[in-house]
Amino acid sequence: MRIRGWAIAIVAALWALGGAPARAQNAANGEILYRAYCEACHGVVPANGPDRAANDPARIRAAASGGVPEMRIVNFLSDNQLRDIAAWVAQVLGIGPPQPQANYTALWWNPQESGWGVNFNHQGAILFGTLFTYDAAGAPLWLVMPAGNLQSGTTFSGDLYRTTGPPFNANPFTPIGAGNLTVVGTMTVTFSASGTAALAYTFNGVAVSKTIQRQVFGSRAASCSTIAGDRATATNYQDLWWNAAESGWGLNVTHQDDTLFATLFTYDATGRDLWLVMAAGTRQADGSYLGDLYRTTGPAFNANPFTPLGPGNLAVVGTMRLRFANGSAGTLAYTVNGVSVTKAITRQVFASPVPICQ
Ligand code: HEC
Repeated sequence: MRIRGWAIAIVAALWALGGAPARAQNAANGEILYRAYCEACHGVVPANGPDRAANDPARIRAAASGGVPEMRIVNFLSDNQLRDIAAWVAQVLGIGPPQPQANYTALWWNPQESGWGVNFNHQGAILFGTLFTYDAAGAPLWLVMPAGNLQSGTTFSGDLYRTTGPPFNANPFTPIGAGNLTVVGTMTVTFSASGTAALAYTFNGVAVSKTIQRQVFGSRAASCSTIAGDRATATNYQDLWWNAAESGWGLNVTHQDDTLFATLFTYDATGRDLWLVMAAGTRQADGSYLGDLYRTTGPAFNANPFTPLGPGNLAVVGTMRLRFANGSAGTLAYTVNGVSVTKAITRQVFASPVPICQ
């Protein structure tokens, strides 16, 4: 896998699927549909084609939308109907339902160590991690694991990078390149069924191990699953957002109830990594989310114990506003010490399926 700037080389996702959140497959409905529309050509027991599409509705769509000319007559079936057929095929052939895949997209932290955290964005078998913490002098430090690959079970592991880049208000913001990336160590995370995870990373030879869990600031953490398709209709904005023409900075959004917690990963005037946080962006009457933007200081990343931040660590540097045009595009506007920045943002896609949170 090639790493290009901030992002992983993007595999073009040619999914012809709609934006509706995935619903559970209905194999019984799939059998009715199969009997009506497929059996005449493929037999009572699926053969010569559908047997290759167990739990794989995209394969049926590919055949019906041109791959198999005879099948154009069934291309009117909806994505949900194809999903039902693929589920019934799997059932009747004894393959069984697809294993529900847990999705770990969330803001994770250690509740005893308020002040640092790690955002995981989970797509396909890849975990993209952004760690926000502090250096030995207490200044903001962020590190990124752009490709935490699934090892086995629920363990993901990858190289950890520190990056440099244009100042947050550079316009245009030139995408970062190989010269901006330094491998500083590795990161490994193992998720457990109980909802905690073991985080271990090394930064310039210093090893850190922490137990983390999803951060809850609303009534509950968002529940994330996966979807192969776009999310224009999504109403939960939890995700990693970016501007595709400006690889190198990004915004992690955590969405609970009517509040967004957002961490902005960017660079200061000297090109050094800088992260800023909107701890409570609340929903406004016009549908946008607005909150104070903070720059924080704190104990070094490897402090043990890591003393939670207090009021003396927080400085309001401005405000941040997020306005979403739909579930997959929006505008980010913020000010830092009087400097205003406005950017178009979209959800960052680097693998499939992608997360959908509720
Ligand atoms: C008019 C006949 C016809 C109908 C109706 C039809 N198919 Fe097919 N299908 C074919 C033919 C011909 C092939 C190619 C046979 C082969 O690949 O061996 C095929 C191939 C396929 C393939 C294999 C494509 C691949 O990627 O290898 C799948 C999957 C499939 N059909 C599913 C279905 C499903 C599900 C339905 C009902 C919704 C259906 N077909 C209805 C004729 C039909």
